[in-house]
Amino acid sequence: MTDNKEAKESRDVKKVTTNTIQKMKQAGEKISMITAYDYSFARIFDEAGIDIILVGDSASNVMAGHTTTLPITLDQMIYHAQSVVRARERALIVADIPFGYYQSNSEIALASAIRIMKESGAHTVKLEGGEEIIDSVKKIVSAGIPVMGHLGLTPQSINKFGTYVVRATEKAEADKLKKDALLLQEAGAFAIVLEKIPASLAKGVSKSLSIPTIGIGAGKFCDGQVLVMHDMLGINVEFKPRFLRQYLNLNEQITNAIQKYIKDVKSVDFPNESEQY
Ligand code: KIV
Repeated sequence: MTDNKEAKESRDVKKVTTNTIQKMKQAGEKISMITAYDYSFARIFDEAGIDIILVGDSASNVMAGHTTTLPITLDQMIYHAQSVVRARERALIVADIPFGYYQSNSEIALASAIRIMKESGAHTVKLEGGEEIIDSVKKIVSAGIPVMGHLGLTPQSINKFGTYVVRATEKAEADKLKKDALLLQEAGAFAIVLEKIPASLAKGVSKSLSIPTIGIGAGKFCDGQVLVMHDMLGINVEFKPRFLRQYLNLNEQITNAIQKYIKDVKSVDFPNESEQY
């Protein structure tokens, strides 16, 4: 094989589907999920063997520099999802429906989900919330679109919470979360993200469901884990919550590389004889 395209075509990859994810739960195999928003990173993550790539509305923070996930638009999410889908060979691609494009009613929610599926080629959508959005989940699922739920700390509701602290530490909120998880399962969701809740609660919820849970700050008993790529790769170094394991310090490595490049340009060390025509 000489060219990348041929090499890519020859890779014997078994594509991950929502079915695969459900079978992984049954087999007790943990599910790995990471966010990505562009072609180049998605390609690396897919080739590394990640199970699910989430085109998260955290793009609003890490790609666009907003302080919350609220400003990102459906068109912008579709653009990010299209770029990620072009890189996909194996992973299941989940795209967030952004704030304002599903909360009003189930017709609007379905229209948004259809736009994401049709225009980006993502395989499933993710929505935040429980009972409040259950009609939308049913409607989207009945149109043949798989839905991933998202409970606990739901960043689109930051203005209601007022803070990003751990959720559902009180009984009333924990009870609602348990009920919401069951409602989402009954409505046809294929998996649920549990964000920043006590590990004991996530353990109970994960045991009570036949669909998998994917945790972020929700402990080791979830059926899988998700991290935001900029946090785990150490690009965004100011964000250091307890749950985050930082696997690289890309911020430092990139800074060193750029400073070396600046120095080489200024000193006319770059380009040298072999780097010119
Ligand atoms: O948008 C996102 O990145 C997410 C994860 C935090 C689960 O929803």
